[in-house]
Amino acid sequence: MGFAILALLAAQLPSVFPPSLPDARVPVWLLLAALSGGLAALISLRPRAPRPLVLGLGWVLMIAAVLQAFLVGDLVALFATWLVVPAVSRLAGQLRPRPRKALVAAHVLAAACWVGIALTVTAMALVAMTTTDIETGVAAYALMTTFDITLLPWANFATILTGLALGVTTGWGLVRYYWVAVKLTIAVSILFMAFGFLHDALERAHQQAMRLAADGGTTAELTADADVAFWGFGTSLLGLVAAMLLSLYKPGGRTRHGRRLPPARRPARELRVTVADRHESALGTIELTLRALGGEPLPGWEPGAHIDLVLPSGRVRQYSLCGDPAQTGTYRIAVLEEPDGRGGSTEIHGLRTGMNIGIRGPRNNFPLVDAPAYLFVAGGIGITPFLPMIERLDRRGADWRLVYRGRSLPTMAFAATLRQRYPRRVTLLPADTHARPDLEALLAQAPADTAVYCCGPEELLRAAEIVAAQHPGVALHTERFAASNRSENATNAPFEAELRRSGVVVHIPADRTLLSAIQEVDPTVDLSCEDGVCGSCATRVLAGTPDHRDDVLRAADRDRTDIIYPCVSRARGERIVLDV
Ligand code: FES
Repeated sequence: MGFAILALLAAQLPSVFPPSLPDARVPVWLLLAALSGGLAALISLRPRAPRPLVLGLGWVLMIAAVLQAFLVGDLVALFATWLVVPAVSRLAGQLRPRPRKALVAAHVLAAACWVGIALTVTAMALVAMTTTDIETGVAAYALMTTFDITLLPWANFATILTGLALGVTTGWGLVRYYWVAVKLTIAVSILFMAFGFLHDALERAHQQAMRLAADGGTTAELTADADVAFWGFGTSLLGLVAAMLLSLYKPGGRTRHGRRLPPARRPARELRVTVADRHESALGTIELTLRALGGEPLPGWEPGAHIDLVLPSGRVRQYSLCGDPAQTGTYRIAVLEEPDGRGGSTEIHGLRTGMNIGIRGPRNNFPLVDAPAYLFVAGGIGITPFLPMIERLDRRGADWRLVYRGRSLPTMAFAATLRQRYPRRVTLLPADTHARPDLEALLAQAPADTAVYCCGPEELLRAAEIVAAQHPGVALHTERFAASNRSENATNAPFEAELRRSGVVVHIPADRTLLSAIQEVDPTVDLSCEDGVCGSCATRVLAGTPDHRDDVLRAADRDRTDIIYPCVSRARGERIVLDV
């Protein structure tokens, strides 16, 4: 909304410098005002508006602001991009590793161009300062001026804008770390110096050199503007080199603002709820409706989220929420009884309406991503996280398909309702009458960039992972509620963990988990499954490389170095530094 007001004001006021396309200036400002006002209204009136629409509008706004700045040549728009780029980046949310790497690469490339151009211009300024031949001086200033009005603005704005976007879409922030804040100050200072006096001093030095050449003068007659141009570009270059070194060595740690940030992990609060309804939704499966004891609203959640059930026996089990996120007074879960399991499901089946239990969460390790199409592959009770996802996607008119495998139709919870509501999108494959799903064919037929979601027994998940590995265009999302033991043959090496907030270094021998060492220092540590499947022990990594052995991270995210699930994961190398 602030940007809309700025754009409206800019359309009324005269331009600071004559723009190169004067006729386009006011119409583009009005377009920018309409776009940013529309975006602000959309976000406040319909907070659940489809993300592609919000981000699409954001992108159009950003591109229009950059066009106004560079093509129309409006100085105010040049600085207004500083508002719009971080705002749109924030809308995009925290970046996943791949786009983050792409943004880092773009930033490094832009910065390298900026340094290269600054070096060239400074070298020419040196030539202009030291030559005794006035014609050489004129040529050097002419080249400097060309760089100054063509490549240099693009390079420095690309560097600053990608830097701003990186700051707001990663944990680096803009003022959380000294090295980021100093880099930002250097970049802004150079920009102010350039627009404040450097550009004008260079122009004057160039004009003066041309006059001297025409009048038969010498370089000794050049005035202070030549000195200003040399020292100005030289100082900018030194600043850029300092910024590069700061990026490489990241000295100084966190600022006061960074230290005041909420802790990386807050212990999950346990809520007491009552079983408001209990009924059998399929053979062997019961559906429970849970309501807060005082009837107050329960924490909000998104499709894919799960909660921990803290049972009267003290057992803690995780179950996906399968109701409607809009119903804030209740949670719904469905539980299959597994008589040969560890006792949790049998205990839940023994719960009756009116009994009280504890819950923690919700937590979402299985979020619904934006994709052109969706394929859901459910095995047995693994159908539950897909119910709210399907509901949401169908409301949006998205392209989705569900393949649901179970032992037999009577044991497949929600199968009848799903088939009745979405006959063309749902394929039921009960094992007593149908062959296994042909995952290879399903993935081969899926439209490009389909998001494939799979939840169910381990063998189905493993099969999906193997087939998805053969289809690089497919993004597979899995959720497990039992450990896959993917690292059962991995050897445990001892290592050291530095718990940075506590200032403690602990030695982790081969036969001890990292989580147990953290618990000794921070007993409030949040944990639940201790099997690497629930995600509750997620801990921020500040340095070192995690050896991910959990089942929470997707295959594409297993090279992440900013997070670890210490109940099962360890460190590669001798030391890891954690935000604990
Ligand atoms: S406690 Fe569940 S992932 Fe670590």
